[in-house]
Amino acid sequence: MVSEDPTKKSLTELGVTDEVQLAFRFHELRARLQRELTRATESGGWEQLREEWVGSGDSVKSRLTANWLRTASVNLRPLVARDIENLINEVFVLSTVMRPLDRLGVNQNDQVAPQFASLRKLFDTEIQGCVNGDDVGVTQTAWLGRTSGVLTHITNRWLRAVSPELKRAVGTEFNKLKAHVESAIEARRTSIAAEASSAASAKDRVDLSLPGVIRPVGTHHLIRQVFQEIEDIFFSIGFSVVEGPEIETPYYNFEALNIPEFHPVRDDMNTFYLELPKGAPGPLLLRTHTSPVQIRTMEKRQPPVRVIVPGKVYRRDNPDATHSFMFHQIEGLAVDSDITFCDFTGTIDYFVKQFFGESVKTRFRPSYFPFTEPSVEFDVSCVFCGGSGTANSGGTCGKCKGAGWIELFGAGMVDPAVYGFVNYDPKKVSGFAFGIGIDRLAMLKYGIDDIQVFSQNDVRFLRQFP
Ligand code: FA5
Repeated sequence: MVSEDPTKKSLTELGVTDEVQLAFRFHELRARLQRELTRATESGGWEQLREEWVGSGDSVKSRLTANWLRTASVNLRPLVARDIENLINEVFVLSTVMRPLDRLGVNQNDQVAPQFASLRKLFDTEIQGCVNGDDVGVTQTAWLGRTSGVLTHITNRWLRAVSPELKRAVGTEFNKLKAHVESAIEARRTSIAAEASSAASAKDRVDLSLPGVIRPVGTHHLIRQVFQEIEDIFFSIGFSVVEGPEIETPYYNFEALNIPEFHPVRDDMNTFYLELPKGAPGPLLLRTHTSPVQIRTMEKRQPPVRVIVPGKVYRRDNPDATHSFMFHQIEGLAVDSDITFCDFTGTIDYFVKQFFGESVKTRFRPSYFPFTEPSVEFDVSCVFCGGSGTANSGGTCGKCKGAGWIELFGAGMVDPAVYGFVNYDPKKVSGFAFGIGIDRLAMLKYGIDDIQVFSQNDVRFLRQFP
């Protein structure tokens, strides 16, 4: 079955919609040209071939112009025009170089140079039409290709077969053409690369007259803002900030705080232990509270000490509305020669009123921590129901569960046993300490009912606290 000539169809009918499909169609046409050229060379029908391909009647060229070029999309049209021109060039060039010189009417020395000059003109048109590296590659193969490049055809059909009288002239012109083709291909390739890089650098050039890129400025996370508020309050009454490591030894996290191994309190605070390489000194754990920094501070400083310690802590707690496995605390420690429980309650009361406002009521409840004696829990009146225990809707307040009070933190007077771990004389010094859970404090102050929102990175939440 003879397949229908594609040049008789439009590009749309052929389903050509992009440059890859177009390149394929022209590749097919070139292969067909090669086949027909071989036949023409065998039969000597080169003129007929030219007529069929580029003649003024019904030729491949006229069909391509009518069926492909005129119906091409705006995007493809320049490519179609260029490819048709290259194909016509190729027909002229190949149907010339496949013919012996005498069939071209070249019988004398002075006819040789003009023959090569017309080839060179066709080559120049083609190389100037190359717009990218791929185009140059196609031209290079067409002219310098080892088996069927134009110069190979010239060698086989002209140089080898030429009469001895013309040999010298043909050899000289051939060498000139070859040198010209090689250098022009190189030059075009270089200029295309230079154009591409200058286009790229023009694109990258910084135009200082343009307005800059304005990136949205973030804000401090609410937890950081609350830290800052609390730090400011304690700065104003003479406290300073110290920090400690989040990875601790059991000594600082437990033992030096009067929590020996197997003490039941450890059960509540058991945490994440680190997997250490064999032979490494250990064990190490993620601190469960900021209290170890009490010890680290007293080891380094002599009384009077008045510090607060903001930081992250970790516990093996299951997440719910008021529990995270990672949360934040601020530790407070004041040790001096004459600190009493009154100093402690006065300090805490001052802080709470500064933080929540004058109207808030506070209370201490007895509690137990191994490193404070006496120990207390500190409650504030519920900020959601005003301490009444009844929600605005009339039912029991869900936040304080009807108690009217919300637990804020643990605290107490430093247990004298702790001084023994840091070489303070318990007979000469006394002090108080507290550990505030910052996440819950922020929840209370800002009416947030789920602790998990602090670490969910939802900007809709974060943007409410600019
Ligand atoms: C302590 O951590 C003691 N170190 C506090 C202390 C310091 C007492 C100094 C005496 C002297 P407690 O385990 O109660 O105590 O934790 C303190 C606060 O951390 C709690 O009141 C609560 O606000 C917060 N908290 C505890 N566990 C969680 C959790 N899983 N998620 C969020 N907040 C928590």
